[in-house]
Amino acid sequence: MSAVGVNHSRRRMLVAATSAVGAVGAGFAAVPFVASMNPSAKARAAGAPVEADISKLEPGALLVVKWRGKPIWIVKRTPEMLAALPTLDSQLVDPASIVPQQPEYCKNPMRSLKPEIWVAIGICTHLGCSPTFRPEMAPNDLGAGWKGGFFCPCHGSRFDLAGRVYKGVPAPTNLVIPIHMYLNDTTILVGQDQGAA
Ligand code: FES
Repeated sequence: MSAVGVNHSRRRMLVAATSAVGAVGAGFAAVPFVASMNPSAKARAAGAPVEADISKLEPGALLVVKWRGKPIWIVKRTPEMLAALPTLDSQLVDPASIVPQQPEYCKNPMRSLKPEIWVAIGICTHLGCSPTFRPEMAPNDLGAGWKGGFFCPCHGSRFDLAGRVYKGVPAPTNLVIPIHMYLNDTTILVGQDQGAA
C-alpha cells in the first residue's frame, strides 16, 4: 500500500472519529433542550407530586403508583385487618412509630391519615428490596400468627399492614411513609401535604 493510501485511510478514520464525537456532543446538548421543552417530564424527574386514584381500590387490595422512581403502596385495609394491628404490638420493634419514618400526621396506631387507607414507600428498610404483599391470615409459609403484612424475599424481613417491622428480622425500622394528602375522597396526592400546599 502506498503512503498516499495510508494517509487516505487515516484521514477517513479521523473524519469518522470527529463525526462520532460531534454526534455524541449533539446528543448531550439535546438533553437539556428536550427537558426545557417538556416541563412536566422535568418536574416528574425531580420528584413532583403524583396523584393516585383510589376510587376502584377494593377492600384488602394494594395499589402501586410510582413517585421519584419508587413504588408507592396504597392499601385499603379491611375492618379485620385494622382490628389485627393492635394485637401485634408486642412482636414489633417500634409499634408506636417513635423512629421518624413517617410524617407527624401518620404517627398514630394505624400510621395513616384515614384508618382504612395506608400509604407507604414499598422499599425494605434493610437493603432496599421491595417486599411482597401478603394480606392473607395465617398462610402456611408465614405461620399461624401471621395477620397480613409484607414479607421481604431478600432476607426475610416482615412488616405488618401498617409497615411496622417485626422483631428478629434484618430490617431495623418501620417502612417509610411519604408525605401525602387527600385532594378529595378518592384522590391522594403523594409527595406534597397540607404543610407544603
Ligand atoms: S432487603 Fe429486605 S430483608 Fe434485606
